[in-house]
Amino acid sequence: ESTLRTVADSNEFRIGAALDPDALRVDPSYWKTAKNEFNAVTPENALKMGPLRPSRHTYDFADADAIVNFGVEHDMYVRGHTLVWHNQKPGWFQAWDYTPDQLRTFLRDHIHTVAGRYRAKIDAWDVVNEAVADDGSLRETVWSDALGEDYLADAFRWADEVTDADLYYNDYGADEVNQKSDAIYDLLEDLLADGVPIDGVGLQLHALGDHPDPESIAENIERFRDLGLDVQITEMDVAFHAGEAPADADEVQADYYREVVEACRDAGCDTLVTWGVHDGSSWLRSFKDFGERYTGDPLLFDDRYDEKPAYDAVKAALAER
Ligand code: G3I
Repeated sequence: ESTLRTVADSNEFRIGAALDPDALRVDPSYWKTAKNEFNAVTPENALKMGPLRPSRHTYDFADADAIVNFGVEHDMYVRGHTLVWHNQKPGWFQAWDYTPDQLRTFLRDHIHTVAGRYRAKIDAWDVVNEAVADDGSLRETVWSDALGEDYLADAFRWADEVTDADLYYNDYGADEVNQKSDAIYDLLEDLLADGVPIDGVGLQLHALGDHPDPESIAENIERFRDLGLDVQITEMDVAFHAGEAPADADEVQADYYREVVEACRDAGCDTLVTWGVHDGSSWLRSFKDFGERYTGDPLLFDDRYDEKPAYDAVKAALAER
């Protein structure tokens, strides 16, 4: 009986899942599903600055190692997420404790330490995550305030100094051709023109209430590939506005996953990571008020790890050629 992974492997496609270290340790069904059904993994939280750095002078790599080593041991493609982000910074981290120069040194040391540790294990890094605001301007963050917009180029160069991984810019809400993806296109074009070592762009594709149009996604992928960049779908899930899910939501969801995989492959994208192993582990269930705003069954497996119509749809789309 073929699994999603065997079909992906034989069609040179990477189908992945974001992993939680505790579930991996304590839930045999989670572990088995992750191992048998996916050939790519991303730590959902364990490689973010907050979880990695319990205090100013200590790193705790245990959770990140658990996930990265799981991926390496099972011949999976491992994505690192994420070196530079304005969210999930450590609780002890207060920007005003640092001069701009000290913050620059802090960020460089963070990137060198973390990306350097996984030099032989991580295949792609989300070096910078969500640096562009929804209106297309550069998002004002502690990093941009202190280091100016050069922090993006610096971050990619610092990562490139310590790893051979492919280096990605990752963002949400930029899956279709729109104001935000236009801004990201212009930003990356400029960085590439300056010789900044960027290899790809990650389109998160959190398809929550509104589902981005697959044709526009394909067009978007193609224009980034024309820039010489690889494109990966990095955090896909498919949900509906709470209370507005169609009666046949499972089938609508399945059709959408299939259309995205087909558009992705047609446009030359060969990697799609879903943001969780099964519905029970979805961030939509637990993160802030998302549980009230959206339906909480956005993934390929349901709470009991049973295959959903979306699973069959993705498997079928991967086998087509
Ligand atoms: O691990 C702690 C736990 O010790 C503590 O008791 C608990 C209560 O405070 O918090 C736990 O940490 C939570 C963490 O998820 C692990 O469950 C954080 O509060 C919570 O903020 C964090 O949410 C994550 C969110 O990013 C914010 O960082 C979600 O799991 C994660 O799915 C989500 O993923 C992001 C991507 O990184 C970037 N793209 C958007 C995507 C969705 O927001």
